[in-house]
Amino acid sequence: MTIDWARLRAAAVDVAARAYAPYSRLRVGAAGLTGDGRVVTGCNVENASFGLTLCAECGLVSALHATPPTAAGDGAPVLVAVAVVAGDGDPLLPCGRCRQLLLEAGGPSLLVDTASGPVPLAELLPAAFGGADLSARRDPSPDDRSDPSPDARGDPSPDASREPADQDPAAT
Ligand code: THU
Repeated sequence: MTIDWARLRAAAVDVAARAYAPYSRLRVGAAGLTGDGRVVTGCNVENASFGLTLCAECGLVSALHATPPTAAGDGAPVLVAVAVVAGDGDPLLPCGRCRQLLLEAGGPSLLVDTASGPVPLAELLPAAFGGADLSARRDPSPDDRSDPSPDARGDPSPDASREPADQDPAAT
């Protein structure tokens, strides 16, 4: 698929102008191209309680999941390219947390714009932790344990609805 980087960067610049960044005064805009050709955007949103700040990429990933699938049965669209810019219009490298967030939205081959051109996310986040590590390393589920069971120990019943998803959506 052809990636129109100029259009993506322009969308990131546009949304950066709507950032809410009165504390750091660093506006950030992020624009992502989905595998089905749509552009989704996000900007940073700060708060007087500084730790609550939302990075632009958080908004982008939220917008991605809020985007309805193109065909019935499709899951959330996958990101194939991302441009992140500061208020000056130049590329800004995503922070560590956002690299991890983008990994699950686009996988290691997601192209991220940098000052020296697009690079795969795997270069910015090598040896990443992901859903496969979670599946392989977590405690067995209560259903898999023969003894002692939660019931036998008198523990409260596990709430299956609170189990995190097993799958890494970017792996498909
Ligand atoms: N920021 C982003 O939006 N994305 C990043 O990847 C790095 C940092 C924002 C968060 C905060 O509002 C401001 O930049 C200063 O850290």
